Amino acid sequence: MTEIGLGIVGCGGIASVHADAARRSGFRVVACWDSQPDRARGLASKFGATAATSLDSLVAHSGVTAVAVAVPTDAHARCAEAVLAANKHLLLEKPMALTVAECDSICAAADRSKGRLQMGLVCRSSPASQHVMRMVRSGAVGPIDFIQARGVRRRGIPGLGGWFTTRSRSGGGCMIDVGVHLMDLALHLAGWPRVLRVSASTASRFGSPIAAYRSPEMWGGPPKSDGTFDVEDAAIALLRCEGGLSIEIDVAWAANIPEGVARDGLLLRGAKAGVHFEIFGSEVRSVVEHDGELRDEIAAVQPPCGWDAAWDAQYRRFGDLVRGHSEPAATANDGRELQRIIAAFYESAALGRETDVR
Ligand SMILES: NC(=O)c1ccc[n+]([C@@H]2O[C@H](COP(=O)([O-])OP(=O)(O)OC[C@H]3O[C@@H](n4cnc5c(N)ncnc54)[C@H](O)[C@@H]3O)[C@@H](O)[C@H]2O)c1
Repeated sequence: MTEIGLGIVGCGGIASVHADAARRSGFRVVACWDSQPDRARGLASKFGATAATSLDSLVAHSGVTAVAVAVPTDAHARCAEAVLAANKHLLLEKPMALTVAECDSICAAADRSKGRLQMGLVCRSSPASQHVMRMVRSGAVGPIDFIQARGVRRRGIPGLGGWFTTRSRSGGGCMIDVGVHLMDLALHLAGWPRVLRVSASTASRFGSPIAAYRSPEMWGGPPKSDGTFDVEDAAIALLRCEGGLSIEIDVAWAANIPEGVARDGLLLRGAKAGVHFEIFGSEVRSVVEHDGELRDEIAAVQPPCGWDAAWDAQYRRFGDLVRGHSEPAATANDGRELQRIIAAFYESAALGRETDVR
């Protein structure tokens, strides 16, 4: 099969994950662009690609059929719309944009374009998520009353002081960054019931003062002590959905939680079975009642390396979309729906009470 020419916009931390997965999945990285030219040159040289001199020249490149946009959130709308205006296919990193209005603008650009848009909601593509989706679709889980989704780091604030922790550039903290994945996966597994109301609580304990933060793990580089931290580093949300499902999201970039007491992942509490899995994990745990006895099972999922497998599956699906063989793994409308819920989340946290999703 002919390789698809890929352009990459934004050559920071996640870009090489995109490039590696794309290369393993039927794409050839043709051109890279970053507002910091040395970053574009670095990624381009690693993948035998050209470092474009502007966004316009990248999207106009004749060898570029599809583009991955992996820039800070405040640049998503501008970059996404440039790609779509050039009628190129787009894989757009999460979260879709800063605001619902920006999402509307991206959706309108997608409607006008011959290019197709897939949202970069990679957690849906992990082997464990796919396994659980098959269980849900088979009816084995039954009606689901509660989903609890947890992604709690003890210390892991990304790029402290930089764009991740500056609300005007990121749209928020751990909820819009990590929580959006959990929210998406919970809703995806539940078949996208309409979320009616959100009750949210946030805390900002660890990111400020920046100079006092010590972290063994620092995605996005060392802290910038003169930078900004005006977002939440921990959050809890309760989403009430049409039909009765409640989704609890517990997410933190930093929290004081004793090792091992709270498992990350999703717990689905269904009428027929309860299921727990870590998104990039290698097993799915479940419990069902048989003749009055509770039976616990552990199913191994393949392949066991969930992270690479998820990224490859995301790119295979994007390739199928580009070739006209499938619909997006995650649509523009899904991205926009998540943004509506996130907007309600931040409104609820600011008001200190439950709010409607509008
Ligand atoms: N799917 C995932 O699991 C995952 C993981 C990490 C990041 N992300 C998302 O990927 C995106 C990038 O995150 P990152 O961690 O790579 O950030 P990063 O800060 O490491 O990289 C961003 C890059 O974009 C460049 N840039 C900034 N503005 C630009 C513009 N207007 N045009 C071109 N380049 C520009 C910066 O110079 C930088 O090199 C974000 O949307 C983030 O939410 C997704």
